This record gives sequence, structure tokens and C-alpha cells, in this order.
Amino acid sequence: MVITLSNNKKMPLKVFGTHRIPDGREVIETVKYAIKAGYRHIDTAWSYGNETGVGIAVNECIEEGIVKREELFITTKLYTGRQSYNEALECFDESLKKLNLEYVDLYLIHNVNRRNLDWRIKNLDSWRAMEKLYNEGRIKSIGVSNYGTEHLEFLLSKAEIKPMVNQIEISIQHQNRDIVEFCRENNIALASWGVLFQGKILTNKTLIDIADKYKKTPAQIAIKWCLNKNIAALSGSMNKEHIKSNFQVDDISITGEDMKILDGQDGGEFSHLHCDEVKPIVYVPLNAYQKKNEYKPLSYTRTYKLFNIFPILKQKNTTGTKLNGTCLALFRY
Ligand SMILES: NC(=O)c1ccc[n+]([C@@H]2O[C@H](COP(=O)([O-])OP(=O)(O)OC[C@H]3O[C@@H](n4cnc5c(N)ncnc54)[C@H](OP(=O)(O)O)[C@@H]3O)[C@@H](O)[C@H]2O)c1
Repeated sequence: MVITLSNNKKMPLKVFGTHRIPDGREVIETVKYAIKAGYRHIDTAWSYGNETGVGIAVNECIEEGIVKREELFITTKLYTGRQSYNEALECFDESLKKLNLEYVDLYLIHNVNRRNLDWRIKNLDSWRAMEKLYNEGRIKSIGVSNYGTEHLEFLLSKAEIKPMVNQIEISIQHQNRDIVEFCRENNIALASWGVLFQGKILTNKTLIDIADKYKKTPAQIAIKWCLNKNIAALSGSMNKEHIKSNFQVDDISITGEDMKILDGQDGGEFSHLHCDEVKPIVYVPLNAYQKKNEYKPLSYTRTYKLFNIFPILKQKNTTGTKLNGTCLALFRY
């Protein structure tokens, strides 16, 4: 199961995630097991602190003849705190050295760094470094992670090489439909982390019922739902049985009707990790709001919690409510 990226590289859709797997023996054994179980796409990040072990596992699998390098797809990510042209080059060099590889298949900006008011400059500087590394062949594909539509719009308007992938949180309970649609329109492939919502999705009653019907595990159905949408599904586990069964989903054929039922779970609980920084309500004079077009209204998809507190703003795409010549609005940068 692969998807062809905009640069014609093939990306395997079943992804073994290594977040929270400690470096050393644990990650080496687990990643080797995942590769033996069939995974060809391994996801790590500079911030996971386990690239050394992931590299050892990958290289041992190659040396033992289990897999060839060109059959593997290794993703790693630029640390959010090291976003600038030079820091991105340094951070990448460190990752490649730790992984002990000649190239990585996919390098992602891990996060927008939203709390930094200069996020546009930081992201663009990092992107320029990634374009250089891509042109040198040290990265085969480049992309981003946790990018919303406004961040993608900005990057697309400036990038010489368009991002090939956006890795975001997607699960049956949190489908991020606006970003998904935007990525599809712009030929950006999607990868979903949190498809199992760190294991919590497995208590979803609808998911359990459908899994029972197909005589599969809830994890398998959650993963297959995602793959059916041509979205790469990342799942992590340190349990061999889980690793094996999470990979074995090819024979599951979820009907259109059941897909719709699973689609209907959207709007439920999700991790809230890497969401846009929610700014407090600010009052901005209407003419100032109109002039300052860098202010963006909050995206409604990431603010369920806030909208529950402020029911007046429950409408979609709230841009503000005029109050005696002032504009009541919620902004993010
Ligand atoms: N780009 C980003 O910002 C970002 C953010 C988060 C994650 N990620 C990536 O996405 C990957 C997946 O996310 P995640 O690690 O947060 O969590 P996850 O895959 O959503 O869930 C992992 C949890 O689910 C359990 N689990 C897995 N398979 C299971 C099964 N078949 N039955 C029962 N429990 C099962 C695991 O426990 P056991 O060990 O007991 O199986 C573990 O506790 C990460 O490893 C990372 O590579 C990226």
C-alpha cells in the first residue's frame, strides 16, 4: 500500500511510529520487529531522542538481508526549537548522523512554532534549508507536520519546492476535514498521527461494534478507515502482537455504509496536541482590524473547547461581532 507523492516518490501508507519508544535496546528491538512484521515506513523525529536506535535497527535489518535500503522509507523531523536556515541544516546533519544513513526519505518541519510571532520567517528559513538538502539528494521528499491551512497557504506562496506531505492528527474522532481538503486540492499527501489517539480511540463504542462485526480489532478498523482514504496511518506500539496485527489490515474490506458510520464519529475527543495557540478574546477597533490583514480569524475546527465556553461564537468561520464600532474577535497569529 503506497501513495505517489507530487515528486513521483512512493510513500508506504502503513507507518510504524516510534514516539515514546526509548532509545537503545527497546527501540532497536521494536523497530526490527516492526520491519520483520512488514512495515517499510518508519517514523521518528529529532525530538524523540531515538534516532540512533532507529538507525541501528534499520542498518541491522539491511545487513541481515531482511530488507534493502531502497525498500525502506524513513521519515524524521526538524525540531521545533531549531527553526532557522543554519539550525535546520545542523539539526538535519545530526539526525542523518544518528540514523547512520546516506539520506532520509522524508524530512518534515515538526511544528509550525506558532507561539513565535515570527513563525512565517522561521518556517520559511527552515524550508529554504530543506529545499537545499532536497536538491543535494540528502532528503528524497520534504514536507511539514501539524500545519493548518493558513500555514500551508503561506508556505505554498513562497516555496520553490512545494511540500509533498503534511502529517497531522487524524482519527475517526478528529478528521481535520478542512486541512485534508486543502491538502488534496494542492496535491499534498496526508499522513495521520494519532489514528489510535494514543490507544484511547479503542474505547469508542461504534468502533468496537464495527470491529466485532468484521471479527477484527478496533485498532485494525481505525487504521483501515484511514488507509481507505489514501492517508498514511501512523501507529505506535511496544507490544509485538499489536505491531503484527496493526500491520495486517490488507484483507479488511469495510463497506461504504460502515465507512460512513465511522465518518460520523468526527467531532469527538482528540489530543489537542499541536493545536493553534488559542489567544484570549481581544477587542480590536474595526478599522484597525481591517487594516491589519495579518490577523487571521480563528479556525473553528480547533476550538471546540473555546466555543463551549463562549457559545456566542459557535458559528463557523467567526470573524468577529461588531459592537458599537468595535470588533470583538478571537485571533491567532
Ligand atoms: N507529527 C507529530 O506531531 C506527531 C505527534 C504524535 C505522534 N506522531 C507519530 O505518530 C505515531 C503514533 O502516535 P502515538 O505514538 O502518539 O500513539 P498511537 O499510535 O496513537 O497510540 C499508541 C498507543 O496505542 C496502543 N496500541 C497500539 N496498538 C494497539 C492495539 N492493537 N491494541 C491496543 N492498544 C494498542 C499502544 O500501546 P502498546 O504499546 O501496549 O501496544 C500505545 O499506548 C508516533 O509514534 C509518532 O511517530 C507524530
